Amino acid sequence: MSSVLILNGPNLNLLGTRQPEVYGAVTMADIESLCSAHGQSLGLTVSFQQSNHEGALIDAVHAAKSVHSAIILNAGAYTHSSVALMDAISSVELPVVEVHLSNIHAREAFRHKSYIAPVAIGQICGFGARSYTLALDAVAGHLGLAQ
Ligand code: DQA
Repeated sequence: MSSVLILNGPNLNLLGTRQPEVYGAVTMADIESLCSAHGQSLGLTVSFQQSNHEGALIDAVHAAKSVHSAIILNAGAYTHSSVALMDAISSVELPVVEVHLSNIHAREAFRHKSYIAPVAIGQICGFGARSYTLALDAVAGHLGLAQ
């Protein structure tokens, strides 16, 4: 079975209580159960990591190279600032799908810029928790698994 890492960045551990008017009531644990089940239906093993620290996210991208076939990345606010995370993705040459719960293009101007998008195979945003399952569909398609 192909393995996918779902990597979440800063403040996403607070989902469920963090700005529910923007991010909804769904928790990270809810997203994990949803994605494990959906991944299984697609023939994908799904692993999860979350960190509030930029360097830890970079280490997780590096470590994924020898273990996983793809990464689904919600880099949180580092999406809009981290050249280092962008460089880490370019360095490992793994397919990355960028995800966001909210539609970053419909929010403040500073959220419109993504350092991840140019090194990702694509970006999915605006569908809440469903952004993650859509990203799993995209990964399965990219890896040539049945949809
Ligand atoms: C987010 C969007 C980012 O702009 C924000 O900083 C986050 C969450 C999302 O999933 O909608 O932390 O990545």
